[in-house]
Amino acid sequence: MRIFVTRPVPEAGIKMLRDKGYEVLINEAAKDRAATLDELKEGVKGTDAVLAVLTDKITAEVMDAGLPTLKIVANFAVGYDNIDLGAAKQKNIMVTNTPGVLTETVAEHTFALMMAIARRIPEADKFARAGKFTAWGPELFLGTDLCHKTLGIIGLGQIGSRVALHAAKGFEMRVLYYDPKPNPDFEKEFGAVYVADIDELLPQCDFISIHVPLLDSTRHLINEERLKKMKPSAYLINTSRGPVVDEKALAQALKNGVIRGAALDVFEFEPEITPELKELDNIVLTPHIASATIGTRSKMAELAANNIIEALEGRTPPNLVK
Ligand code: GLV
Repeated sequence: MRIFVTRPVPEAGIKMLRDKGYEVLINEAAKDRAATLDELKEGVKGTDAVLAVLTDKITAEVMDAGLPTLKIVANFAVGYDNIDLGAAKQKNIMVTNTPGVLTETVAEHTFALMMAIARRIPEADKFARAGKFTAWGPELFLGTDLCHKTLGIIGLGQIGSRVALHAAKGFEMRVLYYDPKPNPDFEKEFGAVYVADIDELLPQCDFISIHVPLLDSTRHLINEERLKKMKPSAYLINTSRGPVVDEKALAQALKNGVIRGAALDVFEFEPEITPELKELDNIVLTPHIASATIGTRSKMAELAANNIIEALEGRTPPNLVK
């Protein structure tokens, strides 16, 4: 069996594949960048499986280059908007993702961002390093408390639920949530309240955290009009997918005080960041690292490898995407 890995991933997963006796071809050239279309088409030729990284678009054209041998594309991510699911289905190629193992890590990063923007950590760090700290100040870097505030969660999957746990049980926040369908058990456990309409959720919240997949229906879910529905004192946090937020509209909203701040781990035109955002102090930016801990990235590699092994040994891979 031959496996193509579109970019280097943690060794734990590679070892599992090599231990099976598979030939593993790693696209080492793409260590710090996305794989090119040529690399993908060339790499996939004659392989049985592709272990794909989310930066790499696995289109119908790429899949065709892997036929007739290609049987599975195992994504190294929980999101799989980089893979043309329709084409995979049509070509009888399985697609898997890596849910579960990154839930706690992404939820922690969501809180790191929330606290960083609310307490102005990057701004204050820059100030301290610049030698501007001349005296403790009664009004130096005043921020916002999380405790007892209202958090609105958009998208109640595993990650959204975990964020709710930290919010309700750790920070004693009031939790409201929007999802296509309500979850009464979740409401009971966290005292959370379902709001069936995003436009009614937004004006009630001090923090909004987004946890939806990127779909046609979620592209620009947060746009100019919806930013205006948020409180002027509110913060927007996004650790899902960049295009869910209209970045130009967000930059304007932050500049004009429509909302107080934002923290993004993902970007509409990733890896590009809308230049206006980089000029603002009331935003925290991290380079899509919400699942980036040593332990979690290893587990993601193992899960992707396991999906490949299960598929190639004729069993249904556990994380088959419907
Ligand atoms: C990261 O963004 C992922 O989808 O796992």
